[in-house]
Amino acid sequence: MSGNDNHSLDSDELCSLLEKKEPMLLFDLRLLESYKSGHIDGSVHAVCDAKAKETIMPRIPQNVKTVLVDDDGTMASEISTMMRSFGLDAHYLKGGMKEWNKETVQGSPSTTIHPDDLWEKISDDNLFLLDVRNKDEFSDFQIPGSVNISLPDVFSSENLSKIPKDKEIITICPHGNRAMVATFALARNGIQSHVLEGGLAGWSQVLNVVKVSDNPTIIQIEKVGKGCLSHMVISEGQAIVIDPLFPAKKYEDIAKKEDAKIVKILDTHQHADHISSAQKLAELSGGSMYESGHEEWERSANLLKDGDEISFGKSKLQVIHTPGHTPGSLCYLIDQKYVFTGDILFIESIGRPDLRDKAEEFARHLYDSLHNKLLKLHSETLVFPTHHGMTVVPENNAYFTTIEKAKQHDILKLSKEEFVKRVVHITVPRPMNYQKIIQINKGTIPLIPIDIPDLEIGPNRCSIAGT
Ligand SMILES: [Fe+2]
Repeated sequence: MSGNDNHSLDSDELCSLLEKKEPMLLFDLRLLESYKSGHIDGSVHAVCDAKAKETIMPRIPQNVKTVLVDDDGTMASEISTMMRSFGLDAHYLKGGMKEWNKETVQGSPSTTIHPDDLWEKISDDNLFLLDVRNKDEFSDFQIPGSVNISLPDVFSSENLSKIPKDKEIITICPHGNRAMVATFALARNGIQSHVLEGGLAGWSQVLNVVKVSDNPTIIQIEKVGKGCLSHMVISEGQAIVIDPLFPAKKYEDIAKKEDAKIVKILDTHQHADHISSAQKLAELSGGSMYESGHEEWERSANLLKDGDEISFGKSKLQVIHTPGHTPGSLCYLIDQKYVFTGDILFIESIGRPDLRDKAEEFARHLYDSLHNKLLKLHSETLVFPTHHGMTVVPENNAYFTTIEKAKQHDILKLSKEEFVKRVVHITVPRPMNYQKIIQINKGTIPLIPIDIPDLEIGPNRCSIAGT
């Protein structure tokens, strides 16, 4: 099928359009290898699959000319016909790259930045984080410090003037598709930028590692895009990991660096906002996996109950059953000095009791767990939660508090009845995909690793805001 030739361009016509420097998007639809070995200067490699159809196409402004290039013009012709039926000003290179008789350039322009590399320099003043999602998406969650100009607005000269020329610009969207269109639109206006690879889904997988203490060694591993916290505790070369996140290999790397072996892996509860890597890490490290014996599982693990003790190196871990966020939530007290509180007690807040649809009953348990168990620990006990709110300022780059400080939360000064009344009336949006995440963590449905970034996109929402 040759398509409608009214919207085809030959090499000369496309060349003169490029020279005019009009706003235009030039997409190269060939395989990445073909693109790398020679492409038209100014073209961007694009995968035209069903996802792109859903995500990129509706966001291309109708007045911006789009030109598609493929191997021989066949597919580009069909897609541009389809795009025109949606009202877009789409064209294609007649005969594809086979007929292109002008110069080509090689390689893949460094238009992307890996999320780990962005994290390395996130506090650099020289960065300008340009989030091109729409306003609603942006207001829901964003990388702190980013500026929102939605994709259609990136094409207007008025908005272009808001983008600094002397900074490194990173374009951001959910998966990198819209950001790539933005990066290309900026490039056509002489502004260089980099697409955040994998978008916010990729950002949600960055892990930051901070050593908090020695003897026992406590290392905090944070999923920075979500504020999820996990911990490795090492005594005499034996490491345990609490609430491990994906990618699991990161913990093996940390243990190796510390000359330690991961012997035990524990979750505090069935998580609702991130995928536990406990099972994967147990496979990788050979360590034993432990889960709450007060919760139901459809995957095999050693089960822990209130009062159980686990030894590693010279350290001793004591299990405290603290229902409230989930019925089986556990806290882990190590050497009577450090308590890992899961989603029961946070630095700035407490856990939410409503993710299993029994808010009032769970709120009563939560009150008892907090007042009769956690707040009874020694006031200097260091508290390490599994999440932190985005406004919490870390201490020496780590997130922790003490029992003494936790007692100052206003909500923990209320009577039980006042507490329950207050807690059940707080409505906080639920974590995205929380039901599916719970099922995966429980073992009811299998985990498909490639799905993790999408499942985990968005902020953590396991705490009660504003308490
Ligand atoms: Fe949770």
